Amino acid sequence: TLSAVAAAALLDFDSVPKNLDDMVTVPSGYSVQVLYRLGDPINSFTSDYINDGSDTDFNYRAGDHHDGMSYFGMNTAGTAKDLTNSSRGLLCMNHENMTQIFMHTVAQNAAYDKTSRLSSEIDKEVSAHGVSVIEIQKGSSEFSINKSSLFNKRITAQTEINIYGPVKNHDLVKTKYSTTGAKTRGTLNNCANGLTPWGTYLTCEENWAGYFKRPASSTLTDTKAQATQNRYMGSTASDGSYGWANSTISDDIYDRWNVTPSGASQTEDYRNAANTFGWVVEIDPFNPTSTPRKRTAFGRMGHEGAMPGIITSGKPLVYYMGDDSRGEYIYKYVSTLNWDETDLNGGLDVGDKYLDDGKLYVAKFSDDGSGQWLELSMNNTDVTSYATYSFADLGDVLVNTRHAADAVDATPMDRPEWTGVHPNTGDIYITLTNNTDRGKASGASSELDSANPRYYTDDKNGTISKGNVNGHVIRMQEVGNDASATAFNWDIYLFGAQSDADENINISKLTDDNDFSSPDGLYFSQVSKGLMWLQTDDGYYTDKTNCMMLAAIPGTYNDGKSTQIINKAVPSNGNADETITTYVGTEASTTNLKRFLVGPKGCEITGITETPDGKAIFVNIQHPGENTSDLSDSANFESHWPDNGTARPRSATIVITKNDGGIVGS
Ligand code: FEO
Ligand code: CA
Ligand code: CA
Ligand code: CA
Repeated sequence: TLSAVAAAALLDFDSVPKNLDDMVTVPSGYSVQVLYRLGDPINSFTSDYINDGSDTDFNYRAGDHHDGMSYFGMNTAGTAKDLTNSSRGLLCMNHENMTQIFMHTVAQNAAYDKTSRLSSEIDKEVSAHGVSVIEIQKGSSEFSINKSSLFNKRITAQTEINIYGPVKNHDLVKTKYSTTGAKTRGTLNNCANGLTPWGTYLTCEENWAGYFKRPASSTLTDTKAQATQNRYMGSTASDGSYGWANSTISDDIYDRWNVTPSGASQTEDYRNAANTFGWVVEIDPFNPTSTPRKRTAFGRMGHEGAMPGIITSGKPLVYYMGDDSRGEYIYKYVSTLNWDETDLNGGLDVGDKYLDDGKLYVAKFSDDGSGQWLELSMNNTDVTSYATYSFADLGDVLVNTRHAADAVDATPMDRPEWTGVHPNTGDIYITLTNNTDRGKASGASSELDSANPRYYTDDKNGTISKGNVNGHVIRMQEVGNDASATAFNWDIYLFGAQSDADENINISKLTDDNDFSSPDGLYFSQVSKGLMWLQTDDGYYTDKTNCMMLAAIPGTYNDGKSTQIINKAVPSNGNADETITTYVGTEASTTNLKRFLVGPKGCEITGITETPDGKAIFVNIQHPGENTSDLSDSANFESHWPDNGTARPRSATIVITKNDGGIVGS
């Protein structure tokens, strides 16, 4: 219940003011250490990063755009896992993307020629994506990277990765590289994350679709392939975001980014290469020579993250997942086998048991505050009778998860980002970051419903406009508190807004101490149970503040179903109103929601993990300075964080500790 989780000892700090400073601001009494920046070497053989675009060797350096991450404790000797150890551990983190303008000696601007790319630049960019595993140790005061650790490694968009689960060896993932469909190369656009009770890391592939060179789908002769491409990649021809298929040197490692059919069959070209992305990937950080496994039972989408529900012996493992795109869905995976604690010390073999065999569900929200989890498999006649796409088998359903979710009439959401499960109540919290089309554009994914009710939002300077630009956080409670239930109830925990917005827009009554926009990262402390961290990736409120992290103590799912009508007439707006009744949590206040951190210019705050004693948290600062437009004079870069002066900005991991040695967030 609410009283049980409202730990009075938490949130005893002064809220950090909104600001536009080019630095990380935290409450007084806390310290920030920069631990792991773009380009930092992960071994003693790689030179320090010069940061002028000349550095190479990204297979042995921190990648760019640090994102989701998890800390896994290891024993004091540094030889094996001990998930309880707070002073030595492995930090696994995603490198989602890159700020390309700062990657090369000659700064690339948006107008560069994607049809002809230097192979050396492509190689560097491919290696700057993926995942880092680094060993860190706590010294007398600060953490440092152990550059001699045998566990340190980079997994990149080029690393060999095995395909596991129902899609392994499926025709739809056969390529010239793996004619049996057993493996692929790379993990890509790794956004949020997850973890397993046996100490492995889950990295989730989000916006992979944009990287591929593709034909206009209308030119494809395979109508099912065309339907897949339309649903996941759009129908227009593209060279891919960075032109990786258009190398000046012809080689298989560049051809593989081109999904245009060119051979006689799928085993002679890379028409299926994109089908090998969009998955959750399991990595065993404690077995550095192991090959990661794409866990295809979790479905294929723009995977934001995959966070587990409460782990209970004798119950299935359950994972909650968002598909971050406008009008996409919320999913959950329920393992067939019940969790057996004797598997705690396993590795990827244990993953085979729990993560390759289970049921995938998609969420359908009803306007009465209830909802259903709908199974996506050949056992569901709504799937098998779908007119738009004819599924051949379970593998086909999983490769085409979005089509299957369309088939069962799931609820299109306002861009589902991170999921988190309250460790005491089991309630599920999901950030819906924003959807500028909601209530505005035409089409099913833009129609208002009670779970995505936002119609009016306040523009930067008091101008009322349409669309949900500030986002909200939805909360779900499984019926009977059973994580494998097929029904749930829901309410909206929190609406983003600026504090001075109209009361019909600032629905959660946010103040200067806690107003925010575009919630994205969300993480429940496993130490201070009841403490939730909320991070923003905002492009809307950035005239007033850089992106931020808040600390919250949420209550419980609103059993009473107290309703609130929103979208009432906004005085300054002449538009006709469409009122929606929804279920609104009322617990947000200045005492249980406070701004804890504001980042440097141009960044988003994303990725958070903690040591098992809760005395250190790790937070990622992603793409500071990404809005830089004047590349001719380094003094004019939007940000110089963290190296200051006229340095190129760098994504980086920071460590936050409390000066009195206490729990972070207390
Ligand atoms: Fe990579 Fe949905 O943020
Ligand atoms: Ca991002
Ligand atoms: Ca995100
Ligand atoms: Ca985002």
